[in-house]
Amino acid sequence: MAQLWGGRFTKQTDAAVKAFNDSIGFDKRLYRQDIQGSMVHARMLGKQGILTEEDCRAIQEGLEGILSDIESGKLVITSEYEDIHSFVEANLIDRIGDAGKRLHTGRSRNDQVALDMRLYTRDAADEIRGQVLHLLKTILEIMEANKETFMPGFTHLQKAQPTTLAHHLGAYFEMLRRDYTRISDCRDRMNECPLGAGAMAGTTYPLDREYVAGELGFACATRNSMDSVSDRDYLLEFLSDLSILMMHLSRFSEELIIWNSNEYRFVEMDDAFSTGSSIMPQKKNPDICELVRGKVGRVYGDLMSLLTAMKGLPLAYNKDMQEDKEPAFDAIDTAAACIPLFAEMLRTIRFNKKVMETSAMRGFTNATDAADYLVGKGVPFRDAHGIIGRLVLHCIALDKGIEELTLDELRAFSDRFGEDVFEAISLRACVNRRLTAGAPGEAAMEKEIEASRVWLQSQK
Ligand code: ARG
Repeated sequence: MAQLWGGRFTKQTDAAVKAFNDSIGFDKRLYRQDIQGSMVHARMLGKQGILTEEDCRAIQEGLEGILSDIESGKLVITSEYEDIHSFVEANLIDRIGDAGKRLHTGRSRNDQVALDMRLYTRDAADEIRGQVLHLLKTILEIMEANKETFMPGFTHLQKAQPTTLAHHLGAYFEMLRRDYTRISDCRDRMNECPLGAGAMAGTTYPLDREYVAGELGFACATRNSMDSVSDRDYLLEFLSDLSILMMHLSRFSEELIIWNSNEYRFVEMDDAFSTGSSIMPQKKNPDICELVRGKVGRVYGDLMSLLTAMKGLPLAYNKDMQEDKEPAFDAIDTAAACIPLFAEMLRTIRFNKKVMETSAMRGFTNATDAADYLVGKGVPFRDAHGIIGRLVLHCIALDKGIEELTLDELRAFSDRFGEDVFEAISLRACVNRRLTAGAPGEAAMEKEIEASRVWLQSQK
C-alpha cells in the first residue's frame, strides 16, 4: 500500500499527476521528525485510553525499528509513496499489521506535517545558532589580538578616519550578535506544538495536547487549530533571519575580497581557503568569499518563493503549502554550509598589519583631528574645517601628508599651529583619543571586547 487514501476513488491516479503531487522526493528528510512525532502521538493515545497498551507498545517498537533501519541503510525511502508520512505509516502496517492502522487516530497529515516541519526548523535554528556563536567567538579572538592594528576606516569607500581592525571587525560582531538573538527569538516564537489540530478543527478524541507538546520539548500547544495547520510564519521569519544573516556575511565577504585585492593587500587568505586559475599561474582567488556573497541570492529567493506561495491563501491547509519545503531546506542548507566555512576562512586569514597601518596614514585620515586640534586652540570648528581643507589641497599638490609639513609650512595656514600638533595628529593619537563608547580608542575597545566576552560566555 503506497497510498493512504483511495476508498472514494474509482480510478488510479494518473502517473503524471502522482509525480506532480508527491513530495517524498524532498520531504523524506523529515523521517526522523515524523517518527518522533508519531511515537509521542501513540504514547499519548495509549495514555488517554484511546489505544490499548498492547497496540501502543507494538507501534513504539515498529517505529523504533523503522528509524534504526532507515539510519542503518537497511530501509530505503523509495519514491512510490506520496510523502514521508505515507512511507512511515505503510511501513509500520507492513511490520505490525492492524495496530499500525490505528496510529493515525485523531491525527491528519495537515497537523502532522506542520509538526514535522516545526521540529525540523527548530533543530535547524539550534544548529545555526551554534554556528553563529562559533563565528562570533572567532571574530572576538581576532579582535582581541588586533586592538592596535591600525587601518583606515572608510565612508563612500574613500578613506575617512583611522580606526583599528578590532573596531572594524567589532561592527560585524554586532551584526552577527543581532542575527543570533533574532534566530533565538524566532525559535522561542515557533516553539509551540501544532499536533492535535487535526485536519483543521481539532478532533472528538480526548487528546492530551499539552502532554504531546511537553514530550516534544515545546513550550505549549498551539491555540487555534485552523492557524496550527496553516501557519508558516515561523518559516518566513526564520528565512528572513537567514536572509539578513547572509546579507551580513555577504558584506563581510565583499570587504575581504577588496582587502585581498592586489591594490589593497590588507589580507592574505590561507592557501587551503583559496583557489587558483586554470590559465593564470599567479592567481590566488578568494572564492569562498565570492561564493558566500553569491549564495545570499538563493536565500533571498527562497524567502521570496515562500512569501509569494503564502500570499492570498485562504484558511486553512492548502496544498500550496507543500511548496514551503524546498525553499526552506535550500535556505537552511545554504546558510549552514556558509557559516562554518566562513568562520574557518576568517580564522586562518593573515592580516598585513604594516600595509594596513601605512594605508591608514595616507589619504588624510587625520584631517578631522587636525581641525579638532585648531578647535582646541580656540578656532571655531567651521573655520578650522576651512583651514584644514585648504591645507589638504596644498598637501595634495606636494604629494605629502599633513604631518610631513614643517611647522613653518603649517603656520602659513594658521598661526595657532604649535609643535604639539605633530603628536596630536599622529595615527596612534587619532585612534586612541577616540574614547566615546563604541569608538576605536584602545580603552573604549577593551571595554567593548570584555562585555562581548561576558555575553558570549553567558550564551552557552
Ligand atoms: N505533503 C504534504 C505537505 O507537505 C503533507 C500534507 C498533506 N495533506 C493533505 N491534506 N494532502 O504539505
